[in-house]
Amino acid sequence: MQVAMIGAGYVGLVSGACFSDFGHRVTCVDTDTAKIAALKAGDIPIFEPGLSELVATNVAAERLFFTTDLAGALEEAEAVFIAVGTPSRRGDGHADLSYVYQAARDIARAIRRYTVVVTKSTVPVGTGDEVERIIRELRPDAEFAVVSNPEFLREGAAITDFKRPDRIVVGTEDERAKQVMTDLYRPLYLNQAPLLFTSRRTAELTKYAANAFLATKITFINEIADLCEKVGGNVQDVARGIGLDNRIGSKFLHAGPGYGGSCFPKDTLALIKTAQDHGAPTRIVETVVAVNDQRKRAMARKVIQALGGSVRGRTVGILGLTFKPNTDDMRDAPSIAIITALQDAGAIVRAHDPEGVEQARLVLSDVTYVDSPYEAATGADALVIVTEWDAFRALDLKRIRALMGQPVVVDLRNIYRSDEMAALGFDYSSVGREL
Ligand code: UGA
Repeated sequence: MQVAMIGAGYVGLVSGACFSDFGHRVTCVDTDTAKIAALKAGDIPIFEPGLSELVATNVAAERLFFTTDLAGALEEAEAVFIAVGTPSRRGDGHADLSYVYQAARDIARAIRRYTVVVTKSTVPVGTGDEVERIIRELRPDAEFAVVSNPEFLREGAAITDFKRPDRIVVGTEDERAKQVMTDLYRPLYLNQAPLLFTSRRTAELTKYAANAFLATKITFINEIADLCEKVGGNVQDVARGIGLDNRIGSKFLHAGPGYGGSCFPKDTLALIKTAQDHGAPTRIVETVVAVNDQRKRAMARKVIQALGGSVRGRTVGILGLTFKPNTDDMRDAPSIAIITALQDAGAIVRAHDPEGVEQARLVLSDVTYVDSPYEAATGADALVIVTEWDAFRALDLKRIRALMGQPVVVDLRNIYRSDEMAALGFDYSSVGREL
């Protein structure tokens, strides 16, 4: 099948590369000429495991193309995906849909044959209706259907998530569009991925509900972690104890410094706004957002406490800056709030991250970036594990201990064992576990 993908960002690039790997002919379109030129030259603008190999293979096989020319890409396309950004609008937390609507106008001008217009970007309920209205208004003659097909990929595991999804949600009541979408996702039947057809609005809402539910799950276990610290419990055991109940499920129960990233913070806010506008407020999600915001600064207080109540003039080594491992994404990373709070309290910060330093430089100032965890530990009065990169899981702890000015380790991801760290002479604290 022939597919056009508008937006060569994270979602568009991963989806485009995966569809082409299934054998479809995919053209990724972006207005950013520099980005398209880089992609044509084999330069992938984001870090995602396996992506550059996947792109290279499919470009070589002539199934994956990059262009700035939407009209050309639409000539033969049976489906065009809108995979542009929907950032939080400054000031009110609503999703900014200007890129989506611009894509709709561009499609309207270029459409030549029956085309399924698919919104893959995360968009508020009712956006599909507006996309349809825009195209219809500009091109009353056009034959098309607007479908919502939200994506559920995680950064760092995006290719596996795309190829082995738990489900695919397709929001449309147009029979012809259903057939096109079925054909498009046919390669996934082998993995028995359920293809759920719903109304368009339901599909749009499903995406927000999924992310808000996951954010709630994380926030719930984070609060239980705080309680564990007070009453003397172990949050990892609680998580296992509740997670083995199938009704609860074991995933997304890792306590930590609070969720971050390009999706949960933005999507929870957008859901809250939509719900308020419609007079059906999602109070649980409102609380989740407030609790998660407070948590990041609370993590800085934890570090300050571990250093006896003051970090003024003390050196704090930070391991991990990105919002999670296997990405270079710094958007809403807990490290930003934690480091800023530590600096406000007078700390000197040294930090190491395997992939995130370039992005971190844009959002954090006065940080000394170093090339290894050992350099981050050198002379540090405390070492704080903020992101659970694999490279931090088997450190030479004796060496770390010898390099540090003071052996204080604050492990915000619970990657080490308290008893082992104590035996090595560390003053070790973690999240929701007895000291
Ligand atoms: C999330 C969803 O998991 C995807 O299904 C969704 O498609 C995506 O948002 C999106 O809307 O595009 P992502 O933001 O890449 O994916 O990352 P997650 O793995 O979900 O992690 C999000 C945050 O939650 C991270 O800061 C992570 O450290 C934190 N987290 C996750 C925890 O603190 N504990 C957990 O148990 C799980």
